[in-house]
Amino acid sequence: MHIYVAVAILFSLLGCAKQSPLEFATPTATKLEKAENKPPVVDAGVDQSILQSVVKLTAAATDSDGTIAFVVWSQVSGPNSAVMSGQNTTTLEVSGLIPGNYTFQVIAEDNSGAQAADVVDIIVNAAGNNPPVVDAGSNQTLNFPEDTISLTGNASDSDGIASYLWSQVSGPTLAKLVDTTTTTLNASLLVAGTYVFQLSATDKKGAIGLDSVTVVVKPVTYQWLSQNVLGPKCASCHGGSSPDGNYSVDTYSGTMKYVKANNASSSKLYSAVLNNSMPKRAPALSNANKDAIKVWINSGALNN
Ligand code: HEC
Repeated sequence: MHIYVAVAILFSLLGCAKQSPLEFATPTATKLEKAENKPPVVDAGVDQSILQSVVKLTAAATDSDGTIAFVVWSQVSGPNSAVMSGQNTTTLEVSGLIPGNYTFQVIAEDNSGAQAADVVDIIVNAAGNNPPVVDAGSNQTLNFPEDTISLTGNASDSDGIASYLWSQVSGPTLAKLVDTTTTTLNASLLVAGTYVFQLSATDKKGAIGLDSVTVVVKPVTYQWLSQNVLGPKCASCHGGSSPDGNYSVDTYSGTMKYVKANNASSSKLYSAVLNNSMPKRAPALSNANKDAIKVWINSGALNN
């Protein structure tokens, strides 16, 4: 019983720490030398909650402008029972685990000596109490400037669920999280990139189950823009056989007449909506729709 309580407290401390900017800053790469060298990127994998005394951890390490010279795993915290093998490979095998909360770190160094680090948490539950089965829901995609998402998960356990906790595992920025102790998380202030969020559920006897969900935020696509902005707000005049101003947004090539890819500020499609001269005889576009046009142009104005 004492172990269950201790594990639960440890984990809730950890859960809180995860959302603080300090903790989040840990995986950020550290540049050690020449400004031209891009540091490697390393991912220690998602946190795991297990019952057994062994676990295999797999890291992904890449370097955009060179090669990975070496990786090294170490234990950062937790009971001192763990025995590690493969510490200088991307796959770490750990045995001798006892109930408790472990954190392992992997550091990758590129061929120019720049390093990056990431950590992963392993929760070892006491034998005889199966951890909750957690489902963080299916992976999601947003089209930036859409920057808000609701994620609904669930958990089941024969002992009953005592508490839920959502946290952010990774992502290009720290998202704003609301309702982190319910089954539905609201995440906002997302930017383009890949975010991973984790739902943990603790059962009434203190065992913890985990699952994670990935949210990919893509820069807005032409298809999205066409369906949500150009079609409904512009095509009544700029479509069909004789479009106003001889400008048709019915097709990608037509739309491109007033677009300079990667340069929204010198694209008439954007300046016309920014200064509210378009749409004619209609309310101005919302800021979100103006931003959508800007983001699409500045991310290459692709026919996607
Ligand atoms: C009610 C009709 C109407 C609607 C709706 C409308 N436009 Fe226009 N648009 C025009 C006309 C007419 C012109 C020709 C130039 C003028 O009269 O200002 C024009 C011209 C333009 C031009 C060329 C501007 C220039 O300086 O040469 C752009 C770009 C443009 N519209 C974009 C848009 C966009 C984007 C939308 C939707 C958000 C939109 N328009 C909605 C009627 C409309």
